[in-house]
Amino acid sequence: MGSAAPVTPVIEARDLTKVYDGAGAETHALRGVSLAIAPGEFTAIMGPSGSGKSTLMHILGCLDIPTTGTYALAGQDVSALDDYELAEVRRTTVGFVFQAFNLLPRSTVLRNVLMPMLYTRVARDERDERAAAALRAVGLEEKLWTHRSNELSGGQMQRVAIARSLVNDPSLVLADEPTGNLDTATGDSVMELFGSLNAEGRTIVLITHEPDIAARTHRIVRLQDGFIVEDAAIADAHVRQYGAGAIPVADDALHPAAAPDGDV
Ligand SMILES: Nc1ncnc2c1ncn2[C@@H]1O[C@H](COP(=O)(O)OP(=O)(O)O)[C@@H](O)[C@H]1O
Ligand SMILES: [Mg+2]
Repeated sequence: MGSAAPVTPVIEARDLTKVYDGAGAETHALRGVSLAIAPGEFTAIMGPSGSGKSTLMHILGCLDIPTTGTYALAGQDVSALDDYELAEVRRTTVGFVFQAFNLLPRSTVLRNVLMPMLYTRVARDERDERAAAALRAVGLEEKLWTHRSNELSGGQMQRVAIARSLVNDPSLVLADEPTGNLDTATGDSVMELFGSLNAEGRTIVLITHEPDIAARTHRIVRLQDGFIVEDAAIADAHVRQYGAGAIPVADDALHPAAAPDGDV
């Protein structure tokens, strides 16, 4: 037998930069970020406020394009697509989960989960099946499916949002501070859900400020000033040394891989 076919990365970003034009001043939000994520990885993006996390997430999620650099998502170069094309890639390839859940409050749970399929060619029967499968996958009891989403607890709302992110069978689930609005116990159970979805093969990238949350993923990518300053498998990082609750956030554990040397 020959060697196995190479695996197409879900994320293959090279030398991404992002410059925002402001009144009189440019902001260099990303200064040359390269990142490859294989199918089935579970990754946390950390870093102080203003370090470029959201900018990177927007590019990875095809909500925005880089100023320079290339980005292939599930093998497709999306670095220079127009807004219409980006929307299509988002719909078919990316599932989003947000800190504030972003559900339609007066719509039912089921309706919220059906929403991403409304403008697709998926047949009605199959939509219903997929929505039900996604709601079961996130552990939401069937009696809640006809409730309006604003009648749910925060943890239940985030489960609905996660179900919604899954219905189009995305190559990538992107979660921006998914536990940020939840108490610790509820956040833990949401992380357990992400863990089990990952164990089933889902590729998940989440942004978090919380070391305890990041420690439940398998890889931590740390941003600072628009650069990746650390990219480590959890088992190799600080967990073994300090325990899962004690990953240093922004102290002398940071050894920038590439010293910022101006706006190259
Ligand atoms: N739309 C924008 N226009 C101008 N500057 C922006 C915009 N979005 C972000 N920035 C700036 O880019 C830098 C990185 O921001 P961001 O990616 O939001 O960081 P983080 O999510 O890590 O807090 C910050 O200096 C921020 O002020
Ligand atoms: Mg942000």
